Amino acid sequence: MIKKCLFPAAGYGTRFLPATKSMPKEMMPIVNKPLIEYGVDEAIQAGMTDMCIVTGRGKHSLMDHFDKNYELEHQISGTSKEALLTDIREVIDSANFTYIRQREMKGLGHAILTGRELVGDNPFAVVLADDLCINLEEGVLAQMVALYKQFRCSIVAVEEVPAEETHKYGVIAGEALTDNLIRVTDMVEKPAPGTEPSNLAIIGRYILTPDIFDILENTEPGKGGEIQITDALLEQAKNGCVLAYKFKGKRFDCGSVEGFIEATNYCFENVYKG
Ligand code: G1P
Repeated sequence: MIKKCLFPAAGYGTRFLPATKSMPKEMMPIVNKPLIEYGVDEAIQAGMTDMCIVTGRGKHSLMDHFDKNYELEHQISGTSKEALLTDIREVIDSANFTYIRQREMKGLGHAILTGRELVGDNPFAVVLADDLCINLEEGVLAQMVALYKQFRCSIVAVEEVPAEETHKYGVIAGEALTDNLIRVTDMVEKPAPGTEPSNLAIIGRYILTPDIFDILENTEPGKGGEIQITDALLEQAKNGCVLAYKFKGKRFDCGSVEGFIEATNYCFENVYKG
């Protein structure tokens, strides 16, 4: 039912310089797989078939990764190393990849709006590849798609974070519907310390209904002078329904060096070896 997944991937990855000087941050490997491939795996597992990637300057390797490399195929064919290509071959065969360039960096809301042409008038998922989410039984997007089928409205993934970290995130408040589901009534992008409406931080997984695009068209720049998806979602919440979902699984902030190392260790033990 939700077939499209949007990946905003135009950012510079400044927290990882110099590694990201000429390499997209989405291509940084966690063990032997680039970050964005984990996100694509999660989307495929949730039944999605169209990966819509919002790219920027210097991101060619992203497109090459999700395409055939005939020279490599030829070299490796019939050798003991061929099995290393099995997973990526399956990914390439089971999804379509489309790309659009975001020419200016005007925030996450602007990146999502840039993807409008690729998404069309359909409900869609958004994955921020920096947030690596692992649940070996059922991926976070699959959990959210199941909820979408029931409620048919936008859904954001949330996680409890320590109060001193809320300033790094979009933070929500609302009415609890169940133990892990909240109807959003307030939402603030990166609240100043002490002003956060709760300790429930938005993590980089969203399901959005397509009316979000018209709202984004009319969303004024907010925090940091950027067009924020958080502000557009608050508008949507006022007119209808936006849910926040406390997902099952582990999440690593791979945009930070600490989170990246934790993710690497965890995936080495539980995904790569497991
Ligand atoms: C973005 C969103 C923020 C969200 C975060 C999750 O911020 O604007 O609401 O909590 O992703 O990772 P960024 O990390 O791009 O600054």
